[in-house]
Amino acid sequence: MPANSTEIFRILTVAPNLIQIEVMDADQFKQDANDFTIGSYLKISDDSNTSIIALVQSFKIKETSSGGTADSTNPSFILDAQPIGFLDDDGKFKRGGQQIAIPPNNVSIADDTILKGIYESVDEDKKFCFANLAQKPSVEIAVDGDKFFSKHIAVVGSTGSGKSGTVARILQEGINPTADQTERGVLNNTHILLFDLHGEYKTAFPKSKKLDVNSLVLPYWLMNSEELEEMFIESNV
Ligand SMILES: Nc1ncnc2c1ncn2[C@@H]1O[C@H](COP(=O)(O)OP(=O)(O)O)[C@@H](O)[C@H]1O
Ligand SMILES: [Mg+2]
Repeated sequence: MPANSTEIFRILTVAPNLIQIEVMDADQFKQDANDFTIGSYLKISDDSNTSIIALVQSFKIKETSSGGTADSTNPSFILDAQPIGFLDDDGKFKRGGQQIAIPPNNVSIADDTILKGIYESVDEDKKFCFANLAQKPSVEIAVDGDKFFSKHIAVVGSTGSGKSGTVARILQEGINPTADQTERGVLNNTHILLFDLHGEYKTAFPKSKKLDVNSLVLPYWLMNSEELEEMFIESNV
């Protein structure tokens, strides 16, 4: 059951890029939100049923004022959330800003339907899926394939965060025949040339044609005089 109660949450701050929410009943919250983490989504609505969707950025324990008798056995938490979009009149997710009447009065954890709406809003025939949402693996993340492949892409992250894995996954999915192609019995006509300088993609593409130093033959006539000189004349500097 998604948490949905004014007794659990209280909104403290509403700013264009930050909404602070106090979790007053931590026990009830834990029960309702067993897989709630940083990066989870919240739905914040006002009386007129306008809803914004916010992404949880951090948790902290609320400091009680000195001398206060707030019970330390059941501390309340503060969630910092960043608004990322809103639900329009049809309940469809849109990125960007939306005014919300202040104070908003209802906070709930975004359910599967909302998450699917955020990530699966691409037209059916343009969908290109290569990932699932880490917080909810049942939610597929679809991008518009036409837009995705007609632009340059950079995969960034620290070492070990999974960049090479992501690239391999994107390419594997890119050469897979689509459902429509499978139905019509045609092959996927994608051609990919991969410069694998560290030799790390070999196992990800077992059926690919591989060229390496041993199998690559460069004819002399392909090289110009400088390249031939570099190769055959030892420099004495
Ligand atoms: N989506 C993923 N889920 C779980 N483990 C992953 C995922 N992507 C990569 N890994 C693991 O993380 C490690 C580092 O991944 P890698 O793609 O080599 O990182 P990078 O290229 O960013 O240094 C590998 O051992 C890989 O198995
Ligand atoms: Mg790598």
